[in-house]
Amino acid sequence: MPADTPLLSVRDLCVSFPAHGRMVPIVEHVSFDMQPGEILGLVGESGSGKSVTAMALMGLIDSPGVRITGSALFRGRELVGMPPRQLRRLRGRDIAMIFQDPMTAFTPVYTIGWQIDEQIRAHEKVSRSTARARTVQLLDDMGVPDPAQAAERYPHQLSGGLRQRAMIAMALSCSPALLVADEPTTALDVTVQAQILDLLRRLRGTHGTSVLLITHDMGVVAQTCARTLVLYSGRVAEYGPTEAVFARPGHPYTAALLDAIPPLYGARPARLPAIEGAPPLPASRPAGCAFAPRCPHAHTTCATTPPPLVPTGPNQQAACVLPAEGTPLPPRVQGMAGRTA
Ligand SMILES: Nc1ncnc2c1ncn2[C@@H]1O[C@H](COP(=O)(O)OP(=O)(O)OP(=O)(O)O)[C@@H](O)[C@H]1O
Ligand code: SF4
Ligand SMILES: [Mg+2]
Repeated sequence: MPADTPLLSVRDLCVSFPAHGRMVPIVEHVSFDMQPGEILGLVGESGSGKSVTAMALMGLIDSPGVRITGSALFRGRELVGMPPRQLRRLRGRDIAMIFQDPMTAFTPVYTIGWQIDEQIRAHEKVSRSTARARTVQLLDDMGVPDPAQAAERYPHQLSGGLRQRAMIAMALSCSPALLVADEPTTALDVTVQAQILDLLRRLRGTHGTSVLLITHDMGVVAQTCARTLVLYSGRVAEYGPTEAVFARPGHPYTAALLDAIPPLYGARPARLPAIEGAPPLPASRPAGCAFAPRCPHAHTTCATTPPPLVPTGPNQQAACVLPAEGTPLPPRVQGMAGRTA
């Protein structure tokens, strides 16, 4: 594969579920690329379709009647519509997923070492002792103290942070090229969260792994991701290099998310700004821009059709009429700072 070929290339991914006698679009025309070794942040409020996007890519949506269209090329192989057997073979070996709650990955009745050994042996013909040596090495790589002994413990005997490390070790057990991490640090305290993010950043060097990092926390994205994709109500609101998106957001929703990040230094405001209102329910999205009911810059043009993505900087795009009209987004703080939760 040429050096600049994306590891994963997603185009026009759409996911709809049947409800009340019709198909309700949950994820609409999502496109992005992931380069080998890259960490891409997928960010958005609760219900924006982050997990549905990830689960669709992994072939893990089994709801009756679900419709998934578009394309997701992983190393040139089409994931959308791939037969379940082939997808199962890819999962764990080439693509792995970690979740917010490590308990969903581990069975309570076996030791974590046994479970990681089994994962290795499911994909490779190696002896039990070779698998265990690899498990211990992986736990060690993930910063688990006394890894040989930790491997003999049951999931409930480990702290939340150690369980999360063990889950990442299990996900990495077959050296996947892509790790999809769905809110992997939300349940952890700040110190442990920082350690796990550091671990994810180092995976590129230690295991050559790309990470699709799903979060609702722009602070996490700032610390970890080279590029950022902002989802709003199942659609891409903004996409670009993290530095540019943070310095010059092209979409009022991105600006609002950034205003809601607590300051790293200095006095913290008594209440953090939050975005007033809530995203629309997927079944009743407005005809035009889905953010219009909450947007301080909305005008009549916004209400007719969903705005397409337009370039707002080098490799940066936003789905908003303001840059398309040549109207720069007003300075962030004027738009949202007055709003409080
Ligand atoms: N199997 C399903 N059938 C029908 N609707 C679903 C299904 N799974 C998810 N949804 C709906 O899809 C929308 C997006 O859900 P999703 O779980 O992807 O959000 P999210 O961005 O991951 O949110 P969170 O930050 O809370 O995890 C929600 O409105 C949810 O109710
Ligand atoms: S298209 Fe209009 S309503 Fe939507 S974010 Fe841009 S200015 Fe606001
Ligand atoms: Mg989710």
